[in-house]
Amino acid sequence: MESLVLLSVMAAKPLPSTGAVTGLKETLDFFRDPQFAQKRFIAHGDVFETRLLNQRLVFIRGKQAIADLFAQGDALEGWWPESVRQLLGSRSLANRSGDGHKARRRVVGQLFSAAALSRYTPSIATLVEELAENLIQAKAPIQLVPCMRRFAFSVIATTVLGLDASDRQALFADFEIWTRALFSIPLAIPGTPFAKALEAKKRLLLRLQHVLEQRPLNRGGLDLISGGLDEAGIPLTDDDLVEQLLLLLFAGYETTASSLSCLMRALMLNPEIELWLLPELLDQPWPNLESRRCPRLDATVLEVMRLTPPVGGFFRRTKETIQLAGVAVPPDRVIQVALAPDLGDGKSDLADIRPQRHLDGSFMQTLLPFGGGERVCLGKALAELEIRLMAVGLLQHVRLELAPDQDLTLQQIPSPLPRGGLLVTASSRHEQR
Ligand code: HEM
Repeated sequence: MESLVLLSVMAAKPLPSTGAVTGLKETLDFFRDPQFAQKRFIAHGDVFETRLLNQRLVFIRGKQAIADLFAQGDALEGWWPESVRQLLGSRSLANRSGDGHKARRRVVGQLFSAAALSRYTPSIATLVEELAENLIQAKAPIQLVPCMRRFAFSVIATTVLGLDASDRQALFADFEIWTRALFSIPLAIPGTPFAKALEAKKRLLLRLQHVLEQRPLNRGGLDLISGGLDEAGIPLTDDDLVEQLLLLLFAGYETTASSLSCLMRALMLNPEIELWLLPELLDQPWPNLESRRCPRLDATVLEVMRLTPPVGGFFRRTKETIQLAGVAVPPDRVIQVALAPDLGDGKSDLADIRPQRHLDGSFMQTLLPFGGGERVCLGKALAELEIRLMAVGLLQHVRLELAPDQDLTLQQIPSPLPRGGLLVTASSRHEQR
């Protein structure tokens, strides 16, 4: 068996490379050009290596390479840039692999079970209704992006973690300091964003520790975490659990705010799609959407995520040589699965937004906005619930229009968001009907 594996690795093609030596130009291009990976895939194929500053990265895309990646099991481990690793903490499931990772996913996953989600629905629906009311009452155009950020944060902080208003405010302030340094240079020199973020992290963990101690009285979902064992069968300590809760704030905030903002932007820029979608949305029994089918909404959300994926890619590190789509990737390489859209060769309509492609059987690419395999997004079901409730609840209550003269282009990093904040005017849909 081992010799078979060896033979197939020997038969594999060597890893194509961009030839970058310092990685400086590649890094500048990476931040400047949303088509960074696409251009290099066209030149080098679905698996290639480049260098971003001092980090060698293997970019991959395509059905075969991704299927091969997910079939690797223990030959791979999770990976995050050093700044993220340190700020999330060594116990965080994001920084663990193997049994330690699985055990913690099982524990945290209890917060996102079907029963947990139906418990969260009324609270999320209230947040949507409050937003609709605020938009209707506003005397001047209002930026939708900050509203979506507040909403996404409240869902995790209030609905899931059960924080009260004063805790939430303080947590938010520290959280902003902490997130600002997530992709910074990880040197804890006093006064740097990274050093400030480490201090903020200590305060965040203390606050979360306090919330965890009051678990039986918790108004969120924390009572659903019924114990849980680590990889050695020993109960998880609270120190361990709070790092998992911190991860949820990180993972579920920017991503969800981005997908909601991009969805609303897409609908306002493409009124014909809103018109196609609206009958389905208006037909839903608010807010009890459980087990309702919303094919047009699902297709629209997927199409927006295809064109503007909230997460640009996800990472793994090789522990041994593996083969992806016939290409040998050596040990100790960081792989990034690129989620940027594949817009084809200009002869197709792939650059256009067309949700119907997901319903008429004409779309053949694999889309993985939530990642996949053993590390697939743990909050996927919650994110999907939030998006459904926001789309149905907001558009049943409110008619949104773009304010004129604003920058609707998208910043790309860390997640796509309209640069001008998505300035809208709103009116009540009920008064018009
Ligand atoms: C539209 C919103 C979201 C998108 C697009 C998204 C996307 C992703 C992606 C691409 C990954 C990496 C998967 C991989 O490595 O294979 C991930 C991981 C993760 N996500 Fe999400 N996410 C979203 C919302 C959320 C929410 C709301 C939560 C929880 C509150 C959450 C919790 C997590 C966690 C804990 C992980 C780490 C999983 C692991 O390493 O095992 N995400 N997400």
